[in-house]
Amino acid sequence: MANPQGFRSENSAYGGGIEKVPFEGISRNDRAAPPMHLLLVDDDDHIREVCRSVAEDCGMKVTDVSTAEEALEVMEMSSVDILLTDLRLPGTSGLELLRRVTQIYPDMAVVMLTQYGTIDSAVEATRMGAADYVTKPFRVEELRARLQQVAHSVELKRENRLLREQVRTRPGFGGLIGMSPRMERVYKLIEKVSQRTHPVLILGESGTGKELVARSVHFLGPRKDRPFVPVECSALVPTLVESELFGYTKGAFTGAMQARQGLMESANGGTLFLDEIGEMSLEMQAKLLRALQQREIKPVGSTERRTIDVRIVAATNRDLELAIKNGNFRQDLFFRLNVVQIKLPPLRDRKGDIPLLVTAFLEKFADPDDAHRELTEDAMRRLMAYDWPGNVRELENTIERAVALSSGPLVSVHDLPSNLQYPTTDRAPEKEELLPLDELERRAILSTLRQTGGDKQAAARMLGIGKTTLYRKLKQYQIERTDA
Ligand SMILES: Nc1ncnc2c1ncn2[C@@H]1O[C@H](COP(=O)(O)OP(=O)(O)OP(=O)(O)O)[C@@H](O)[C@H]1O
Ligand SMILES: [Mg+2]
Repeated sequence: MANPQGFRSENSAYGGGIEKVPFEGISRNDRAAPPMHLLLVDDDDHIREVCRSVAEDCGMKVTDVSTAEEALEVMEMSSVDILLTDLRLPGTSGLELLRRVTQIYPDMAVVMLTQYGTIDSAVEATRMGAADYVTKPFRVEELRARLQQVAHSVELKRENRLLREQVRTRPGFGGLIGMSPRMERVYKLIEKVSQRTHPVLILGESGTGKELVARSVHFLGPRKDRPFVPVECSALVPTLVESELFGYTKGAFTGAMQARQGLMESANGGTLFLDEIGEMSLEMQAKLLRALQQREIKPVGSTERRTIDVRIVAATNRDLELAIKNGNFRQDLFFRLNVVQIKLPPLRDRKGDIPLLVTAFLEKFADPDDAHRELTEDAMRRLMAYDWPGNVRELENTIERAVALSSGPLVSVHDLPSNLQYPTTDRAPEKEELLPLDELERRAILSTLRQTGGDKQAAARMLGIGKTTLYRKLKQYQIERTDA
């Protein structure tokens, strides 16, 4: 077949024969994403026919034209996601078209079709911002794979943009982020209890957002203009707890030069947040219980009782029921505090919220002058695979560190701490499980890298191979790129 552009005819797609491979986009929340719109620019009819057929098979909507000028017109009239253009075009060249597109439509992904032997232009194109290039002659499968890959990253970008908008527009619950059903339940509960004055007990592992919830309960309710007073129970000096909480009179003890109001009284009309209540001594628990039951306090050194009206919100990461069993927490105080309980899920039980949290933290830590940052797909996969013992606080710190380490707009696996770069998710092979040699080799390399904390030189030494060989194998097994 006459084939001026060098399309390899043995893999011809002209006669059909392309198996249908559905495009696998990311479909979170079952949102039906509109199809990708691909604009194809080539002056060769055959190439256009083949490319159209491949792109349509990938589930894309295709518009094709034969010049850069026509392409620019299409872009002005409709929204294009991917531009697939020949490098050599009559009139305005493909490179020039690329240059304009990157300026006017920075979100558009551009894939260049280049002639075999013009690798320099291809490299130049990627340097100028092309997402990828395909060298003619190409195989249908190759083009399909490239297009699917590019479509996938466009989809990710779309998703990220959507998430960013959601972060901005979602009515805030004191900065709480997450749209998982478990978080939605938490929001509903907060909304309900914030309107009342019952005590609230917030439970959850460290870093799950207990303090944010406490603040939301206060600031969403009718007491929002009154004080919110947090008390770190674990930081109170045992001998001073009583005077801190209830205040004291002048001369109540040595050094009490004048009377001082306690934290409880300063929260009058508002909310007292007793953080880490599980750390309070039994003696103090008794005094607190009494104050809560009688709604009055007696400052140290005073005989007079004062009525107080505070809403109590308490939090702990301790298992209070176990503490009661062990005699470290008063059951009557527990009943008093536990009128409404809000239990926060650990992050590992709501991993679907990770992308949303990441987007918010990337924005939070980005330099205002920088272009917004994004995580590479691999980096995101690592975050999703990790267990997050330190919950949202650990994720927040991880992103802060990654933003500080990354140099471009993309935050990659290399910017993550080493325990995330080389996760221990590989199952040990079952006794009877026979693995191909290359899989054994891949696992050996991964486990060695884990042991050396990512130090490749040391890993090569331990494996008894040269550093170059290790690099080749890392590439071969895509260890830097795929989920380990
Ligand atoms: N759902 C969330 N959305 C946004 N940020 C969150 C969320 N949960 C926690 N954070 C962030 O994580 C950090 C820890 O949150 P917070 O102090 O509320 O946790 P905590 O449960 O009180 O932890 P600890 O028990 O260690 O005191 C904070 O910086 C907070 O902003
Ligand atoms: Mg806390």
